[in-house]
Amino acid sequence: MKTDRIHLKAPGCWINDPNGFIYYKGQYHLFYQCFPYAVEWGTMHWGHAVSRDLVNWEHCGIALFPSRYEDQNGCFSGSAVEHEGKMYLYYTGVHYDTINPQNIHKNPNDRYESSQIMICSEDGFTFDNLNGKRVIIPPFADREPADRTHTRDPKVWRGKDAWYMVLGSRTNDDRGQLLFYRSVDLQEWHSVNRVTKETTLGWMWECPDLFETADGAVLMVSPMGVLKDGKREANHAVCLPVEFEESTCNLTFSQEYQFVDYGMDLYAPQSTVDEQGRRVMIGWMRMPEAVEGRWNGMFCIPRIVERKDSHIYFRVHPNVERAFSKKISSPKEAGESGYRLSLELPEGGRIDIGGYKVTRIGNRICTDRSDVFTGHEAWRMEAATPEIKEGNHLDIYVDRNLIEIYVNHGEYVLSSVVYDLGMEIRSEAVETLEIYTVDSNRESKGGQMMCD
Ligand code: FRU
Repeated sequence: MKTDRIHLKAPGCWINDPNGFIYYKGQYHLFYQCFPYAVEWGTMHWGHAVSRDLVNWEHCGIALFPSRYEDQNGCFSGSAVEHEGKMYLYYTGVHYDTINPQNIHKNPNDRYESSQIMICSEDGFTFDNLNGKRVIIPPFADREPADRTHTRDPKVWRGKDAWYMVLGSRTNDDRGQLLFYRSVDLQEWHSVNRVTKETTLGWMWECPDLFETADGAVLMVSPMGVLKDGKREANHAVCLPVEFEESTCNLTFSQEYQFVDYGMDLYAPQSTVDEQGRRVMIGWMRMPEAVEGRWNGMFCIPRIVERKDSHIYFRVHPNVERAFSKKISSPKEAGESGYRLSLELPEGGRIDIGGYKVTRIGNRICTDRSDVFTGHEAWRMEAATPEIKEGNHLDIYVDRNLIEIYVNHGEYVLSSVVYDLGMEIRSEAVETLEIYTVDSNRESKGGQMMCD
């Protein structure tokens, strides 16, 4: 089976959202949206990968595929929970109103119905696609109380006294909304509440994820149509500190939103709890072009999510940080997994990483990828963080097709997809620049057959 280290990548096909992220029986399972037959979005399946350490990944093939009326045109995004040793997956099945006779894998008119479906697995590897699926929430009739088409992406979690589910949806006046459900047995689900935001934030909310941290609750959600500069993409992942009352599923927004990532490529993040009880998230990096015509889509480094004084931090998972332990003097000495630059970037400083430019201007970290992203003018070339407050430190993880900049250990993160990156590093007014790569002798777990 194919393996990846650091960044999990599409195994020679198309992938998008992470799904069913869970630490289960000693391994991390990451499912994901996948079209296995071509390097473009199509009838969705769930691909499957596992890892023991969030550093080394092994691909396990297809977990879910369309098999019944309700999901005949795709198994859309969803989540996983464990109960009494079993893994329960929840996802959205879609059934198109009409089929494009030329291409059954694309929806001709954005008209389809969405059902919420569950499937249970004894071991996290075998899924009875043909007999084991059960529709738990049928499609809505029309636009009230929620949209029959745009209601999807169940995220399930264990609350204090019951199981809870949040769905992304839209109101009948075209605003994003959340639908909350409760269950005592993971099978029968009852509607509890519907929530939207006073100030408009896109017209439909995809992939909601709500969780508690030591310092209060956080909502991550991916609103459609939230960015209005005419560039690809208009949909973008945001996060907000919120107050959530479980008994009523009442959610209040106390602050404005942050972007989950300021590079504008990361979308549909999903979180789980790691081996040590930390909240860890992973997100899909959207790519305009397949790499070598073979694969499209990859995931960011798993990030620990923390809320402090109403600011949300995304820090590199410590396992990944530790893996980059071998000091080198040039990127040319780095292995397949790329390298990490550790530096101080004071006001006016700049660094050019093989054609990708990072500067500090007016207390923001600003990037320009135009030399390593040619031919994609509809996409954003430049990006910037808000004004940083906490210091000058950057950790920059450089992979062939993805650069992730962690500012002040997660105060902000800015990640960019790139192509044809060079090997030269040039810098000006940069302090304490160090380069690290993964020590392959220490990181050899990837060779184990974890799917068996
Ligand atoms: C987000 C999304 C989800 C949906 C899935 C379909 O990227 O549109 O809302 O479930 O992708 O692939």
